[in-house]
Amino acid sequence: MSQLVHAFAPGRVNLIGEHTDYNDGLALPFAIEDGVTVTATLATGGLIEAIAIDLGERDSFDAASPQPAAGWRAFVRGAAAELRDAGFDVRPARLELSGTVPRGSGLSSSAALEIALCLALLGLAGDEPPEAVALARICSAVEHRWVGAQTGLLDQLASLCGAAGTAVRIDFRSLAIERLPLALGEHRLVVLDSGERHAHAESGYNERRSECARACTALGIDSLRDAEPAAVEELPEPLRRRARHVLSENARVDAAVTALRAGDLDELGRLLDASHASLRDDYAVSTAAVELAVARLRDAGALGARIMGGGFGGSVLALLPPGAAAPAGAVEVRPGAGARLL
Ligand code: GLA
Repeated sequence: MSQLVHAFAPGRVNLIGEHTDYNDGLALPFAIEDGVTVTATLATGGLIEAIAIDLGERDSFDAASPQPAAGWRAFVRGAAAELRDAGFDVRPARLELSGTVPRGSGLSSSAALEIALCLALLGLAGDEPPEAVALARICSAVEHRWVGAQTGLLDQLASLCGAAGTAVRIDFRSLAIERLPLALGEHRLVVLDSGERHAHAESGYNERRSECARACTALGIDSLRDAEPAAVEELPEPLRRRARHVLSENARVDAAVTALRAGDLDELGRLLDASHASLRDDYAVSTAAVELAVARLRDAGALGARIMGGGFGGSVLALLPPGAAAPAGAVEVRPGAGARLL
């Protein structure tokens, strides 16, 4: 047991492989340098007191039986409850939450918050964190049961398994994780916020997920990873287009791995563009504000640009060639270290 713990979990950028995680597919994310820090001190009595420094708000609840709440409080109560459910000791505590990832911008502030909370609470109790997939599942239960977003494991695994200078290829069927150097030379990856906030629980995210489940039922398979392209073409709309995106996006992840290994960044840019077209036309998760951000990045000379994360707003990712000036508001992103106790 510790008296004081600092836990940090980074947000993530997903290079490519969008809406594939809950379809047993492939993705290629990396952890970024920005994230959420939770400072936890052991308290007496039975309460967990949480303070969201950036918002100037607080919450207080019984450590032994957290009750549902809305907004950021759902994450804190959910993290305590799900850790208890998984058999971990959750101690009374005072938690200070602060972060550098803008919320709702598609950089996974939610996953960063859940993971930093879990690591802090585990650290206070003196428990070793479970391995990455098990901890990612606990955090995803927070999203499903407490926040109401049926998200997959992409964000949590990227935050937990990230390493400086490295992208992570995740196979969501086998849960095999493979690190590969993100060697971009003089090229830069930037994100541009579309300015449109999204919350997965309220956006079309859950609807997309249920459309994929309906496509599986119609195809008589458990997962779109097993879908035959010819059978997908026979599906009624919009299921045909949704499934087609998932199949083509899985193929683009492996093409991106090949391009990175070959140092072919022009090809990586083309794959980002193709991913965006598929997310816009087949998966229908883009918005006018996102299209505007994509256009600004292409005007700046981007080799490729695409909507990132759950969609319906959030940030656009682009690959800029050497010498191209990023448009106003765009921020460079680099692969940073994964979640940890500080
Ligand atoms: C959000 C979810 C992830 C993933 C992406 C889309 O970030 O949290 O699980 O589904 O959207 O790729």
